[in-house]
Amino acid sequence: MNIILTGGTGLIGKRVIAHLLGNGHSVVALTRQRTTAAFTAFEKKPFRAVQWDARTLGSGDSAWSKEISGAEAIIHLAGEGIFDKRWTAEIKHRLVESRLATTRLFVEAIAQADTKPRVFISASAVGYYGDRHDAPTDESTPPASDFLADLCVRWEQEAQEARKYGVRVAHPRLGIVLAESGGALGRMLPVFKAFLGMPLGSGKQWFPWVHIDDVVRGICFPLENTTLEGAYNLAAPEPVRMEEFCMELGNVLHRPSWSPMRVPEFALKLALGEAALSLIGGVKIIPKKLLDLNFEFRYNKVAPALDQLLRP
Ligand SMILES: NC(=O)c1ccc[n+]([C@@H]2O[C@H](COP(=O)([O-])OP(=O)(O)OC[C@H]3O[C@@H](n4cnc5c(N)ncnc54)[C@H](OP(=O)(O)O)[C@@H]3O)[C@@H](O)[C@H]2O)c1
Repeated sequence: MNIILTGGTGLIGKRVIAHLLGNGHSVVALTRQRTTAAFTAFEKKPFRAVQWDARTLGSGDSAWSKEISGAEAIIHLAGEGIFDKRWTAEIKHRLVESRLATTRLFVEAIAQADTKPRVFISASAVGYYGDRHDAPTDESTPPASDFLADLCVRWEQEAQEARKYGVRVAHPRLGIVLAESGGALGRMLPVFKAFLGMPLGSGKQWFPWVHIDDVVRGICFPLENTTLEGAYNLAAPEPVRMEEFCMELGNVLHRPSWSPMRVPEFALKLALGEAALSLIGGVKIIPKKLLDLNFEFRYNKVAPALDQLLRP
C-alpha cells in the first residue's frame, strides 16, 4: 500500500514508518522540518519525506495535498506535545489547533483528491475518558468534559468528516506509550535512576500503559482489518495502578519506588498547573474492540514489558 503519514519524526511515528516499510508498504512522511536525522534509516527504502507547513494545502507543483490521490491510507499522528509545556492559554491553543486544523486539512485534501484513500487512521487518546476511578472503561463509555477530553472529542469529530467522501475512519485512543527512550518513561527514568522514584498523586489511580510495539501494530491494524472503524482503545488489556507500575519500574531498574511516599497532588498542580489533573486521575482501560477482533497484544503484563524495554 502507498501510505501517507504525519508525526513521522515523533516517538511513535518513526516506529510506525519502520514497521510499514518492513511489511512491504511505501511511505510518504509529511514533516514541517527541512531536514531531519529521524529519517536517515529509511533512505534507499520506498520512502519519501515531503515538507508541509501543517496549516495549508500547499500550492503549485510542491503542494503536499497532491500526494493524497496516490495514497491508499493516511496515518495522522502529528500534534504538539501534550506534556511538553505548562498549559497556558497559548499552549492550549497550539495543542488544539495542531490536531484539529491538521485533521481538517486532510479532510479538505481528501475532498479534492481524484482518487480517495480507503482508510484514514487519525490518532486520539484515552484522555477522552478523563478520570474514571475504578470503572472498567471500554469504547462505549462517554467522554469526560475536561480540556483533554474535549480535545479528543473534537479531534475525532474532525476526522469523521472524511466519511462523507467514502473513506473509512479509525481512531486509536492511545494509552500511555512505553518506549526505551522518550515519552512517559523518558521522564520517569532519570528520577528512578537517581533513587527518587515514587508514585504521583494517590498512587491508586489506574495507569493505562501500552508497549510501543503493540501501539505500532495497533495503529496499523485497520490497514489489514477492514471491519475496524471508529474509535478503539489501544492500551494493554491488563492495566495496573500507578503504585504497582512504579514498583515494577523500580524492580527492573534495581531501584526503590518509595511506595508509602507520594508526590503530593498540590506539588504536581504547582509544577504542572491544569495538566497535573491528567496524572492525578486515571482510567482502567479495556481494549474491547481490539480483543473482539482477535488482535493479539504481545505485552499484556507490565513487568515483562518494562523488562523488554529496559534490561541492558
Ligand atoms: N506518546 C504517548 O504516550 C501518547 C499517548 C496518547 C496519545 N498520543 C498521541 O499520538 C500522537 C503521536 O504521539 P508521539 O508521542 O509520537 O508524539 P511526538 O513524539 O511529540 O511527535 C509528534 C509529531 O507531531 C509533529 N508536530 C509537533 N508539533 C506540531 C504542530 N504544532 N503542528 C503540526 N505538527 C506538529 C512533529 O512532527 P514534525 O516536526 O516532523 O512536523 C512531531 O514529530 C500525538 O498526537 C499524541 O498526542 C501519544
